[in-house]
Amino acid sequence: MEYTSIPGIGKKASRFGVGTWPIGGAMWGGNDDEEALRMLHAAMDQGITVIDTAIDYGYGHSERLIGKALKESGKREDIILSAKCGLSWKGEEIYRDGSKKRITAEIEETLKNLQTDYVDVYFVHWPDPAVSMEETAEAMKLLYDEGKIAAIGVSNFTIDEMEAFLKVAPIHAIQPPYNLFEREAEKEIFPYSKKHNATLYLYSSLCRGLLSGKMTRNREFGEGDIRKETDPKFKQPLFDQYLAAADKLAQFAQQAYGRPLIDLAVRYVLDQSETGIALRGARRPEQLEPLSRIEGWKLTDGDKKEIDRILAESIGEPIQPDFMAPPLKKEVLES
Ligand SMILES: NC(=O)c1ccc[n+]([C@@H]2O[C@H](COP(=O)([O-])OP(=O)(O)OC[C@H]3O[C@@H](n4cnc5c(N)ncnc54)[C@H](OP(=O)(O)O)[C@@H]3O)[C@@H](O)[C@H]2O)c1
Repeated sequence: MEYTSIPGIGKKASRFGVGTWPIGGAMWGGNDDEEALRMLHAAMDQGITVIDTAIDYGYGHSERLIGKALKESGKREDIILSAKCGLSWKGEEIYRDGSKKRITAEIEETLKNLQTDYVDVYFVHWPDPAVSMEETAEAMKLLYDEGKIAAIGVSNFTIDEMEAFLKVAPIHAIQPPYNLFEREAEKEIFPYSKKHNATLYLYSSLCRGLLSGKMTRNREFGEGDIRKETDPKFKQPLFDQYLAAADKLAQFAQQAYGRPLIDLAVRYVLDQSETGIALRGARRPEQLEPLSRIEGWKLTDGDKKEIDRILAESIGEPIQPDFMAPPLKKEVLES
C-alpha cells in the first residue's frame, strides 16, 4: 500500500481511500448492508486507512455502517475517518446549509452515527453562497479548537472560496472530483493544494463506474440511481461516446501494461496528483479488487501524452460533474 500524510494527522494515510456514497444506498439504487460491511472489513484488513463518508450519504446510513464496522474491527485508532458537513435535506431532497447552526448540530449526529468522539478530517461538502464564508469557516474552526475534528477540509470549493475560508480557518485537505474523464482540478486546484500544503482527496476516481472496465451499454441502474437520473454521461448519445473512449483506454492499458482499465484509471489519479488520495466507491469486497495491482508501476510521460490523445480524439470537450451540485436551502424549502 502506498501512503501519504495529512497535515496535523499522525496516522498513515493510504493513497487508496474507500468512498462510501454508494453504500448509503440513496441515489445509488439501493444497497446490501451485509456486503457493505464485508467490504469495509476487507478494506481495513488490506491496509486501507482512509474511509470517506458524509452524513447525507443515505441520510446517515453510510455513517452508521462505518460506525458498526469500526466497532467490530477495533481499528478506530488506525483509521482516518473523513466525514462531511454543510448539507441538509427535506424528505429526500438535499440542499446546502453552511450555517454555524447546521454545522455544529451536524457534527453531533455524525459522531453518534460513527460511534466515535472525533472525526479525523471534516470537510465542508459544498460551499453555501447563502451563508457568509466567514460564518462557515468560523464554525469549522470552533469544532477544530474543541477537538471534535482533527483536520479541516473543503470540497467543491473554487480558489476564491478557499482564499476567503483561509482568512478564518486553516485548510488541511481539499476534495475535488478527479478522474480520467473529469480533469478540471489539474488546472488550479492541484497547484493550490501544493502551495498550501493541503492533501488532495480525489473523488469519483472511476467516474462513477464508467472507468471500471465493466460498464456496458445495457447496464440497468436501480431506482433513483444518480447515473440514470442526472449524470449526462450516462445518457445517449454521450453514454456511447464515453463507453467507446473507455474501450480505447482499455485497449491502451492492455497493450502498454498488460493491465485492465480499472488499474490504469486508479494509477492515473495517483500519478497525476503525486501525493493525493484516490477515493473510489465500492459496495462489495470484490470491488476493492485493483488494490493489489496498483503498486510497483507508474505511467510514463509518453503514455500520459498518449492518454491525452485518446481522450481528445474520443471525447473532445469533456463534461464536468456540475450536475452533482446541490440546490440552495431556499430553493428546496420554498418549492
Ligand atoms: N465531495 C463530494 O462532493 C463527493 C462527490 C462524489 C463522491 N465523493 C466521494 O468519493 C467516493 C468515490 O466516488 P463515487 O463513489 O462517486 O464513484 P466512483 O468511485 O467513481 O465509482 C463507484 C462505482 O464504481 C463501480 N465500481 C467500483 N469498483 C468496481 C469494480 N472493481 N468493478 C466494477 N465496478 C466497480 C461501482 O458501481 P456499481 O456497483 O453500481 O457497479 C461503484 O459504486 C464516494 O463514494 C464519496 O466517498 C465525494
